[in-house]
Amino acid sequence: MATAPLLRALHGDRPERPPVWFMRQAGRSLPEYRELRVGTRMLDACLDPELAAEITLQPVRRHGVDAAVFFSDIVVPLLLAGIDVEIQPGRGPVFADPVRTTADVDRVTAIDPADVVAASAPVAEAVGIVARELGDVPVIGFAGAPFTLAAYLVEGGPSKEHLRARGMMHADPEAWHRLAGWLARVSHAFLQVQVDAGASAVQLFDSWAGSLSVADYRAHIAPHSHTALDGITVPRIHFGVGTAHLLPDMRLGGLADAVGVDWRTPLDEAAAIVGPDVTLQGNIDPALLTAPWPVLSAHVRDVIARGGAARAHILNLGHGVPPETDPTVLTRIVALAHGEDV
Ligand code: CP3
Repeated sequence: MATAPLLRALHGDRPERPPVWFMRQAGRSLPEYRELRVGTRMLDACLDPELAAEITLQPVRRHGVDAAVFFSDIVVPLLLAGIDVEIQPGRGPVFADPVRTTADVDRVTAIDPADVVAASAPVAEAVGIVARELGDVPVIGFAGAPFTLAAYLVEGGPSKEHLRARGMMHADPEAWHRLAGWLARVSHAFLQVQVDAGASAVQLFDSWAGSLSVADYRAHIAPHSHTALDGITVPRIHFGVGTAHLLPDMRLGGLADAVGVDWRTPLDEAAAIVGPDVTLQGNIDPALLTAPWPVLSAHVRDVIARGGAARAHILNLGHGVPPETDPTVLTRIVALAHGEDV
C-alpha cells in the first residue's frame, strides 16, 4: 500500500506520473449511481453500509482512478450527533434549527463528540468493505472543516457569503470559538473512525474558506482546522475554493501533507506561494469538462506541467465534478494522466 502513487505523492515522492482522482467522483455524473439512488434519500444512502460502499467503488471501477473517496457527506457526523439536518436535492444541507445564539451554541456543544464515534458503525462498516475490496488502491476519508460546517449550521442552509457565520466570529467570539472547537472535535472523530476502518489518507474540505480574510482565517479558523487534523495518523490533504490568499496558512504549520488548489491559481504560482515542502492537488477547471477534447486535453497537460513545480502533484479538479459531466470525459482524463494513448 505504501507504494500506491497517491500515498507516495503525499509523502513528497514524485511517481513517474501524477496520481489522479476527482472530488465528487462518486455521484450524479454516473448513471449507475443515479440508478442505485432511486428511492433512497441522500443521507439514508450514506448510512447504508452496502450501498455507500458500492457507490464509493463505482468510479474506481469505471475510471481506474488512483484512489477512492468515501461516499458520505460533510454533514453526516452532525446527523450522527443527533442534529436535525437533511440534504435537499439541488440545494444542499438544510438544518431545522440554525445555531445563532449563545443558547443554540450551548445546546449543540453539550453533545459529546464521542457520541458521534458511537453512532458511526455504518460508516466504519462501509469504509471496511471498500478497503477490503480495493486492496492496494487507497481509500480517502474526509470531513468538513469547522468553518465550512459552520457556514451551513449557523445560516441554516446554503448561503453565498456566509455572513451569519462570519458575523458570529466578531459579534460573539466566545460563542464562535466554542462552536468551532466543537465542530473540530466532531470532524476529528469522524476522520479517526474512517482511518480506523481502513482509510489511508484524509481530506479536510474547507470549501467556503475563500470568503474569509487572512486575518479572520488566522484568528478564528486555523486553530480549529488544526484541531480537526491533529493526531490523524495518515497523510492529510487540506482543500478550499478561492483560497489563493490563504494557501500558506492552509498548510496549518506543516500539518497538511498536501494543499488543494482551485482552478483560479496556476499550480506553478501556488508552488511559489506555499514553498517546496508540500504536495499540491488540483486543479483542472471543471468548466472545461464540456470543452472539445483538444482544448480540454491541452488544459490537462498544462496542469500536469505546472504541477511539476510543486514538491509532488496529485491531479484533480479545482472543485467537485459537476453533476451533468459526461463520465467518459473523466475516464479519458485518467487515461491521459496514466500516459495511455487518448
Ligand atoms: O467526492 C465524493 O465523491 C465523495 C462524496 C462527497 C459528497 N459530498 C457526496 C454528495 C463529498 C466529499 C461531499 C462533501 C461536501 N458536501 C462538501 C465539500 C465538497 C465541495 O463540493 O465543496 C460540501 C460543501 C457538501 C454539502 C453538500 N452536500 C452540497 C452542497 C450538496 C449538493 C446539493 C445538490 O443537490 O446540488 C450535497 C449533496 C451531495 N453530497 C450529493 C453527493 C453525491 C448530491 C446528492 C444526490 O446525489 O442526490
